[in-house]
Amino acid sequence: MTRPGWPAIIQGGMGVAISTWTLARAVSQAGQLGVVSGTGIDTVLVRRLQDGDPGGHVRRALAASPWPDLVNPVLKRFYRVQGRHPGEPYARLALWTLDTSRSRTSLAILAGFVEVWLAKAEHQGLVGINLLTKIALPNLAVLYGAMQAGVDVVLMGAGIPREIPGVLDSLAQHEPARMRCDVVGMSASEFPWIHFDPRDFDSSTTAALKRPAFFPIVASNSLATMLAKKANGSLEGFVVEGPTAGGHNAPPRGPKQYDAQGQPVYGQRDQVDWEALNALGYPFWMAGGFGSRKGLQFAQDHNAMGIQVGSLFAFCRESGLSPSLKTAVLNDVRTGRASVRTDPLASPTGFPFKVVQVPNTLSDNSLYASRDRICDIGYLREAFRDSKGRIQFRCAAEPIAAYVKKGGLADDTAGRKCLCNGLMATAGFPQSRRAGEELAIVTGGDALDEIRPLLLTGDSDYSAQDVIDYLTGL
Ligand SMILES: Cc1cc2nc3c(=O)[nH]c(=O)nc-3n(C[C@H](O)[C@H](O)[C@H](O)COP(=O)(O)O)c2cc1C
Repeated sequence: MTRPGWPAIIQGGMGVAISTWTLARAVSQAGQLGVVSGTGIDTVLVRRLQDGDPGGHVRRALAASPWPDLVNPVLKRFYRVQGRHPGEPYARLALWTLDTSRSRTSLAILAGFVEVWLAKAEHQGLVGINLLTKIALPNLAVLYGAMQAGVDVVLMGAGIPREIPGVLDSLAQHEPARMRCDVVGMSASEFPWIHFDPRDFDSSTTAALKRPAFFPIVASNSLATMLAKKANGSLEGFVVEGPTAGGHNAPPRGPKQYDAQGQPVYGQRDQVDWEALNALGYPFWMAGGFGSRKGLQFAQDHNAMGIQVGSLFAFCRESGLSPSLKTAVLNDVRTGRASVRTDPLASPTGFPFKVVQVPNTLSDNSLYASRDRICDIGYLREAFRDSKGRIQFRCAAEPIAAYVKKGGLADDTAGRKCLCNGLMATAGFPQSRRAGEELAIVTGGDALDEIRPLLLTGDSDYSAQDVIDYLTGL
């Protein structure tokens, strides 16, 4: 079923640290496109080190990095041979701003490098990196690190990544790159630039880097058309993701409507015109509920290169999802009780976010309500211009008084969940607080039941290879 050029299956990028290097490597070695998540990866790097870096993988990758002078201070500050003491909180990193320090930025470069280097080690398969356009501040540094490790494809959605092709062209030549930072209260032409200059970080590699292929992730053929016309450089394909996909979803077009469970209702206007997309002439992959043989067949019957699949891979053996959560969800899938809610409020971004209902996680509203609001990771903060004209940052999931003091509306804080802390916990890096550990939040697609065929053998779990064999009909 494979068509020439690119693999038929893209394993979707899944943050935070769900599509880790272990998963991407397994998929890539099986001949498909394995994708690491670059979202929050600097925090993940330093938490792995504080947990003792089991297996020594992070240190192995850091030792191979072209920035030996950046590595030693990081190891000195974060690496704990024995890991943390029980209940000891992780060291807190400075939050990203427009003038983040060199040492803080270097963590993002190293983290992008480590994740891709490990995913690509000792084989020739293709590896991609996924980033969210909306989490703009760390992206240039993470991309440069990933490119130094030879990343083959960059995939970005959650926003309009118009400036990324030009960024990739510049970074491949070790030249300064920049992109705009959206700021509430400013017009697009006033948005400040996020700057990144590779020459600020002496690297032992000076030869031009491979310029990775760029696949924007879009929800509509009209956005694909706009990007094909207006991106500031070449793009090599599209992933087209519908509203049943795990993670964040694009909001419905047109007037807001909700079903009886308060989930956004999608309609005719959200349907993708596959013929129009095909007419653009780029390879494309369909995502969101296509993780089945039927899905792959449908995609290829409509001239797609194949499918991007998330949910099936998120719960497989090699993913970074915490084992106890995997077991809980797979038990529910096996017994037909798995349930996913499209929550229009949970994400501080305002985008709908899919939440799998799992006991003892933030899907339980009473547990959510009992959490003290705190914003100490801060990737999802939005930039805004304050009354004095300064650029500041706020998050709708931070303490309500602080959000309102920054000019945010109290109404906008309702139901917002701290995805930064929640998703770190889901990947096995919960922050310890006086009140206990941060609770997880699990995301997955509407079609979680599609996992069931992988559990029919009676096994309690399955591998990335099992997913690929199942999808390709082997
Ligand atoms: C646990 C999980 C986390 C995800 N995180 C991201 C992400 O960080 N960035 C992104 O572009 N897509 C993310 N996605 C979407 C996937 O990359 C993929 O497009 C989607 O899952 C495909 O639909 P499916 O879940 O029906 O297979 C996530 C999906 C899941 C299940």
